[in-house]
Parts: sequence; C-alpha cells; structure tokens
Amino acid sequence: MARRSLTVRVLGGLLLAGASLGGSARAQPVDQRIEALLQQMTLDEKLGQLTQYSGDWKVTGPVTFSGNHQEAIQAGRVGSMLNVLGSERTRAYQDVAMRSRLKIPLLFGQDVIHGYQTTFPIPLAEAASWDLAAIEASARIAATEAAASGIHWTFAPMVDIARDPRWGRVMEGAGEDTYLASKIAYARVKGFQGRQLGDTDALMATAKHFAAYGAAQAGRDYNSVDMSERMLWETYLPPFKAALDAGAATFMNSFNDLNGIPASGNSYLLRDILKGAWGFKGFVVSDWGSIGEMVKHGYVKDNRDAARAAITAGGDMDMESNAYRDHLGGLVRGGAVPVALVDDAVRRVLRKKFELGLFDDPYRFSDAARERAALNNPAHRQAARTMAAKSIVLLKNEGKLLPLSRDLKTIAFIGPLVKAVADNHGGWAVTLPNVDYSKFIVTQWDGLKVGLGSGTRLLYARGSDIEGQNRDGFAEAVAVARQADLVIVSVGESAAMSGEAKSRAHIGLPGVQEDLIRELHATGKPVVVLINAGRPLVFNWTAEHVPAIAYTWWLGSEAGNAIADVLLGKHNPAARLPISFPRGEGQIPIYYNHFNTGRPAPADGVAGYSSGYLDEKTTPRYPFGHGLSYTTFAYSDLRLDKAHVAGNDKITVSLRVTNSGSRAGDEVVQLYLRDRVGSVVRPVKELKDFRTIRLEPGQTRAVGFLIDREKLSFYNEKLQWAAEPGEFDLMIGASSADIRLSAGFELAE
Ligand code: GLC
Repeated sequence: MARRSLTVRVLGGLLLAGASLGGSARAQPVDQRIEALLQQMTLDEKLGQLTQYSGDWKVTGPVTFSGNHQEAIQAGRVGSMLNVLGSERTRAYQDVAMRSRLKIPLLFGQDVIHGYQTTFPIPLAEAASWDLAAIEASARIAATEAAASGIHWTFAPMVDIARDPRWGRVMEGAGEDTYLASKIAYARVKGFQGRQLGDTDALMATAKHFAAYGAAQAGRDYNSVDMSERMLWETYLPPFKAALDAGAATFMNSFNDLNGIPASGNSYLLRDILKGAWGFKGFVVSDWGSIGEMVKHGYVKDNRDAARAAITAGGDMDMESNAYRDHLGGLVRGGAVPVALVDDAVRRVLRKKFELGLFDDPYRFSDAARERAALNNPAHRQAARTMAAKSIVLLKNEGKLLPLSRDLKTIAFIGPLVKAVADNHGGWAVTLPNVDYSKFIVTQWDGLKVGLGSGTRLLYARGSDIEGQNRDGFAEAVAVARQADLVIVSVGESAAMSGEAKSRAHIGLPGVQEDLIRELHATGKPVVVLINAGRPLVFNWTAEHVPAIAYTWWLGSEAGNAIADVLLGKHNPAARLPISFPRGEGQIPIYYNHFNTGRPAPADGVAGYSSGYLDEKTTPRYPFGHGLSYTTFAYSDLRLDKAHVAGNDKITVSLRVTNSGSRAGDEVVQLYLRDRVGSVVRPVKELKDFRTIRLEPGQTRAVGFLIDREKLSFYNEKLQWAAEPGEFDLMIGASSADIRLSAGFELAE
C-alpha cells in the first residue's frame, strides 16, 4: 500500500476513532468527520451507503427480496431501510449496523404522507383548506410522531402538479395550481423538518417525484411525460424549487421518462437543474426500483448500465434495484465511473447522518417512552379534527339544507361509507402491524351519532356496496329514508381506489351508488350527499338534482367528528377546491389557468367554429377555488394605488369584504392576474395570491395585496424569467370562476 494512503488511513483512523467515540470528534466540523470516515471506507462500504432496502412491514413496490437484510447490514452494505417502523424495530436494526466494521448508522425512511399514527386528511384534502399554517402544523405533528418511532426521514411532500384526476396519485399532492402547490410544498417541508434537522422531532423531508410525474399521459401511473421546457419550468418545477427553498433535505426522482429520458438517469433534471442551477446539497434517492427500471424503459441495456446512467446523472441512493450494490464497484474498478461520483454521493448521505446526530447517538430517535407519549395523543387528534373540518368542501347547499336543523327528529344516514372504518384513512396511511385501527378512527356514523346527541334519531342502511351492480339493499334504504325527516348519503370510492398504481379511466361514482342516490331522492325527502374519494369524481346527476353536497375526501382518524362538526354547523366550511372537477373524462385535462386560444369556446357549449365540444360544456362541473360557506360574503371598494407601474414599483391593492350572512365564517379571497399580451401567450387567469379572513355576521374588513414584478413575470420565449410591458387584468374572486371585482393596470417598459 502506498505510503501516502497508509498515512491518510492512519490519520483517518484517529479521526474516525474520535468520530465514532464521540467526545472531541463531535466538536470537529462535519466535513472533517465525513472525510475521515470516507478515507476508511472500502468501495463496497461506500456502495452500501448508496443502497436502500425495504423492511418487511409494508410493500410499497415490487418486492425483489425476502428477508431482513441483516447479513448485508452487518457487512456494511446497506445505508438505509424503509418500511421499518417503531422504536423497538428500528433499534434492533440499528444494533446490527453497529456491529459493522465502521459502525455507520442506518437511515430509516418512511412514507409519512399525511400523519403517522394520528392520520390527517389526505394531502389533496388538506390543500383544499388553503390554510398554510394548518398544513404546516399537520406535517409537524406527523414528524413528531414518526420521529419518536425511530423514523429519520419521510418520503414527503409529494409536490407533483396534477391536472388529471384519472391519475390515482392526485390524492397525494396539492392539485393543479402551481402557486398554491408551491406555497403548500414550502409549508409541508417546514412542518416535517421543524426547527432544524437533528432535533428529535424533526424528519428529513423529500421533495418528490422529480419531475413532472403528475403529467403522465392519459392519467396512467408511471406513463410517459412529454412536455415543453416552458411547461416544465412554469408549471411543474416551481413546487420543487419551493421545497428546496424550504430546506428539503432530499429529493426523490420519479419513475417516468421525461421527453424520452427516464428521471432516474436524467442529468438535465438531477445535475443541471437540481444540483447545478439550484445548488442542492442534499441527496437524491431513486424511487422504488426506478434505476433498474431504466432497462424496461429501454434506456439502458442492463442493470450495470442502469447503475452507470444513474450515478452519472446524479442519483445518489438506489432504492430497491440493487444496481449500485451489484455493479457500481465493477464500473469504478473498470474506470467506467469515476470514484469521485461515488464519493460525492456518499458524502451527501453521510452529511445527513451527521446532521441528524446519528453518529453521536444512533438510537436517539428510537425512544419507546417518547413514542408512547407522542402517538395519537389528544392534542394531535384535536388538530386532526380541525384540519379535517377545514378540508371539507361544501360544493352545493340549495335551500340552506345545511347545517342540519336542530328541529330534525329523525335522520337517515345511508350508504357504504357511513360505517366504513379504515377507508377514512385514505391512501398512504401508516398502518402498523397488529394495531386495531377501529379504536383510532372515528367513523362517520359514530361522529354524527355523538354529534347529534340523544335528541335526534339516527337510522342506518348500507344501501349498496361501493362497487358492483347489486341493488338488493335499495329497498331497505328507501324504507329507512321514508321514516326520516332528512337523508344523508355517504358514497364514493374505497380508499384503495386512489393512490399509487390506482389510475381509473372512468371516474364516476363506482358501482350503483348514484342509482342509490336517485332512489333516495325519489322519496321526496331532502337529501344531503357526502362524497369520499382521493380524486375528483364525476357525479353529474347528483350535482344537478341533489340540493346539498359536501366533498369529504378521506379525512383521517377524526373523519366522523369533523364531518359532524360541519354538518351540525360547529365548523362553518371554508375549503376551496385545489383542483378542477370535470363533467366527464372527455374534458381531461381540464384546468382553470388555460390559454385562450384563437377561437375560445363559449363558457357553455359550442358556437360555430370555436374550441368547444359538440356534446359537452367546456366549463368544469366545479371550478378551481370553488367552495361555499354557511354565510355569504360581499366584495367592494377595489382600489389600486396606481394604474401604471414601471421597473420594480409595486401596486398596492385593497378591497373590502363583508360578511353579508348570519353566521361567522372564513372567506378565501383569491387574486388572479391576466397578462393580456406576451411574447408567449399567457393564461386567461393565474392565481397570484390569496387571503383567508374570518368575519362575524355584518362585519367588514379591508383586505390588501401587493403586486410586485415577480407576480408579473413568466418564462418568455427564450425561457428567461421576466415581466413584459403591457396591460394586465386583475381579478378578485371567491373562486377562479366567481370573479367579484376586477381592475386593470399597465406595466410600462
Ligand atoms: C413508491 C412511491 C414513492 C414511495 C416509495 C417508497 O413506489 O412511488 O412515492 O416513497 O415507493 O414507498
């Protein structure tokens, strides 16, 4: 062995001895500790840090190996595990890692998407709250619980823009709008990572799936994505940049090919943009097996070539494809891959382990006492209940059927989701083995029963299944309805019908549920419909005939209480749709911030040579930003402090909002802009800001916005982020389609 490398090894050994023994080493700068350790590592040990396996708790991808990887962990050939949960199990796995030569601790990752043991509403539902503070608090609680259970790292937030509700993973993100989704991405990263990484209630966040995964063609999961640079930069990348700006510790590349190059091997995404232009210092984990899947993509010929492509493109950690473990060593030894690329990836991973304090105490997150105190505690459950109520969108309320009148003596609560239990969790819930979740989930039946108290009789009938054509339950349901003063019908998907690999070509209410609604409506009783789903559904007959409809998504552990709080008026709904609801699949993709075209379609229907349909309206069933309240709000006195702006001048916008109804309520005041003429065409409107204000009946308050140059900018024909002179329309709306006030201004040169 060359003299130099021996000296370096000895020095490194001394530093490492300090590092692993703690003591003075802790005082050393992390960079020094990383270098000292790197010097000690064999190539196989380096590749170990870049290798992640799933435990046997839950399958979230195609399993290629059975067992617990103990031997590989002890040999220092595993850097991270996912799907290993709980202080006890993570401690046991860490024990094995501590028996390895260099005692490098494992990272435990988990899909903590909307809660850990206290389950919050699915992310798309939370997005409907437009309440950034509540969304951050939700992630904060999830992190507190997961970090107490040995988890270091969540594979969240998913920040994929989605304009296609056929795609099952629309449930996991923040909908169709880049501005709202970027704000939510920032809030979620801040919530997960807390004050600082290394705190024992902080999780590393993951901005995923990088990038443009939500634009999968035909709404089919994992499908190809083909889009212009402008669309990528203007619509799909900003939420990732927002997550990065919030300090996201890691990114996860997506499964899809983007313009023909799989994200796992896409150096434009991972090196040029993420690690280059954006200066990302964390690490990139692949999605489950996605490195190896480049063979199926037809981008590489075998797993060896996949390993080369991925490490070259900037992928740091290989989840479950074994490509790095099996092939990177040979590629480095054969000179096909510079060891510097491997070292850079290893440094990135080790840095996070140091930042989490795992070298000083590998067990610091696996704390049984803290775990017991954190999981499902009353404060967390109350926060989940509030978040769930804030997520319920009141789509329709003719005749003010809601909130339920206290005079109702008998209510029929009918439908396959009334007494559903686990479905309320929605997709991507963390369900630990051997836990009876019926103890932790408030069903819709239980919530309403408790909420109503003994003064109102609550009758039940299942009516139908979620799927299938069986109508045997209709007669009983109708008979029960006839005994009631009002009927509430709870229908929708099962939780298993949205999420990963859950695309649906037909997104109507499954089975015969809408027929059940028709039958109940035909009794002449007033009908309220609750729709539970992980995506926008199509329910045109219901939308046109039923007087009151609330979208209850999947609301988590406190679903029943939250639904009762809204139905009974304890919480006045204020949620707004974060995604357009189509009238039918034929309209998809449908989104509010579309271009005008040269022959814009009339709002409803076709008029001659226009961009409309012969057989359908062009407007959505329910538009982005839509949501009703139990009160009403009037908008007035829109003022701009200047009608002409130049350079970096800002425009101060003010208006007044009055609660013109009889109940206190929250209003989400939305500001949209339209750039009338640009070097590339601009959308007919774009959300640029919003304010949520609470008003007592009769109360009026001023609302203000600031229009700066950033809000006027876009990627021009040269893909430069710039504002262009010209006229702008400013619109203030209660939704993207309910514009209450408008004005114009001009940006001068
Ligand atoms: C899945 C998902 C990804 C998740 C990962 C680990 O395939 O695509 O979002 O974080 O595997 O479960």
